[in-house]
Amino acid sequence: MVIRTRRLRGSDALRRMTRETRISQDSLIYPLFIKEGKNIAEELTSLKGQIRYSPDTAAKGIETALSAGVRSFLLFGIPENKDGGGSGAYDENGVVQQTLKNLKKEFGNDVYLITDVCLCEYTSHGHCGLINNETVDNDATLPLLAKTTLSHVQAGADMAAPSGMMDGTVAAMRAALDKGGYADIPIMSYAAKYASSFYGPFRDAAGSAPQFGDRKTYQMDYHNSREALKRIQIDIDGGADIIIVKPALPSLDIISKTRDNVKLPIAAYSVSGEYAMIKESAASGFIDEYNVMCESAAAVYRAGADILITYFAKELAEAIRKGDIG
Ligand code: PBG
Repeated sequence: MVIRTRRLRGSDALRRMTRETRISQDSLIYPLFIKEGKNIAEELTSLKGQIRYSPDTAAKGIETALSAGVRSFLLFGIPENKDGGGSGAYDENGVVQQTLKNLKKEFGNDVYLITDVCLCEYTSHGHCGLINNETVDNDATLPLLAKTTLSHVQAGADMAAPSGMMDGTVAAMRAALDKGGYADIPIMSYAAKYASSFYGPFRDAAGSAPQFGDRKTYQMDYHNSREALKRIQIDIDGGADIIIVKPALPSLDIISKTRDNVKLPIAAYSVSGEYAMIKESAASGFIDEYNVMCESAAAVYRAGADILITYFAKELAEAIRKGDIG
């Protein structure tokens, strides 16, 4: 006897009915870069198709995404001036704070605004924490991250996403939020973030490449997976509500392991280099952009992610609507 797999030959309806992975556009988060200044809407050379806005034009980017069916955003700020202490990050009139106020005024709760909480876009040296003798001063950075978080939430942020990988960040942010009267604001923590070369185009877009050294003293070595679980546990103990694993495709095993070990929702960040690889090879005619985008996204959900942060959010929402994935 032949034991058959029932190959679902020819029936699109049956194939869709029996999909093991379901994807909703509600689970997509779209990263947006906002540069201090006025009237900016410029395409990023390193991230084709992605537009960098200023606080006064950001609403345009939000509108196009809303009409595609995406309503959650991750905001990154690029200040006009950088300094050693990254003061633009916690300036109540900083680029992200201005943008939040404008967007909440215009869209209210139709949009869900998450902010990246890190110093690297604001420091002259480009590191994620304060620098002392060319090394990162972890503990001195924590109060500044807490201050940044509060200033974002006061300006209208719905959730804060710390990405700097300083030990103790989540606990420090949680304490500051609770004390400031924001016990209901959740934290989505970049808990397992690898020191990855896939962030190259982002650093170009955000002007945040480190001026000396690298991020290997605080981001994770990509040879390690138990360390990811340990870091995730520390963030859970600190009060994290959602766990980010990053980058996405190179970390499918980590997403899967986290799914088996952790009860919190998992967000995978499909980073700038992943996007650029698809865009550029498609532009050269080597792969089909739409199909590779769909397959890559489905793989991340199949591995166990609940949420996908991606520069393809608008195009994926459309693919989900059409039923090509999801
Ligand atoms: C800031 C931050 C980075 C990314 C997200 N938050 C850059 C880095 O750690 O160097 C990368 C996102 C991407 O590549 O799309 N700490």
